[in-house]
Amino acid sequence: MDKEEALKKLFQEVVSDKNLPLQEPNLVFGEGNVDAEVMFVGEAPGFHENEEKRPFVGRGGQLLNRNIEKIGWRREDVYITNIVKRRPPDNRDPLPEEIEAYKPYLTKQIEIINPLVVATLGRFSMNYFLPGAKITRDQGKVFRVGGRFIVPILHPAAALRATGMLEAFEEVFQKLPRIVSRCKKELAKTENESTTAN
Ligand code: URA
Repeated sequence: MDKEEALKKLFQEVVSDKNLPLQEPNLVFGEGNVDAEVMFVGEAPGFHENEEKRPFVGRGGQLLNRNIEKIGWRREDVYITNIVKRRPPDNRDPLPEEIEAYKPYLTKQIEIINPLVVATLGRFSMNYFLPGAKITRDQGKVFRVGGRFIVPILHPAAALRATGMLEAFEEVFQKLPRIVSRCKKELAKTENESTTAN
């Protein structure tokens, strides 16, 4: 099965899972290049995302798009999704049980796409991958988890709330291309070492 097919199958599995919380809102599964090296993971869809059934299409999404373009990438080249794939009522934070319930689907989605770097957008997504991390301390740092690298970034909505936050958000974005090349080198190095050891 190729990646497109595997993702379609996963989409159907989410649709037919009637035990998932938040059954009422639309499903916002995620979109982008199935072979992306970088996957952005936010927390949950908001009003506009629910309307369009696409992740990050509101004001936060526009900030994300601008920053992707500023570093010479295109939105179509990366993959964008959320931990929780349906909008919590009144845009409240996702509940721990909602995060837990959607977890198997995000895990599978990551396995299928197999990105080198997961750039987390906001505290919920960061703590999903790095339970002990703190956003102010750890944004822009690179954490290796198995064969993948996690880079915490502020949530675009938080970046839009204050100038200092916007600067911090954009600063991490500027570092992303170099982070990706560094991660590639590091992964190649460890893969070589394990081949030599065998
Ligand atoms: N906030 C998120 O975390 N995800 C979206 O898709 C939109 C806003």
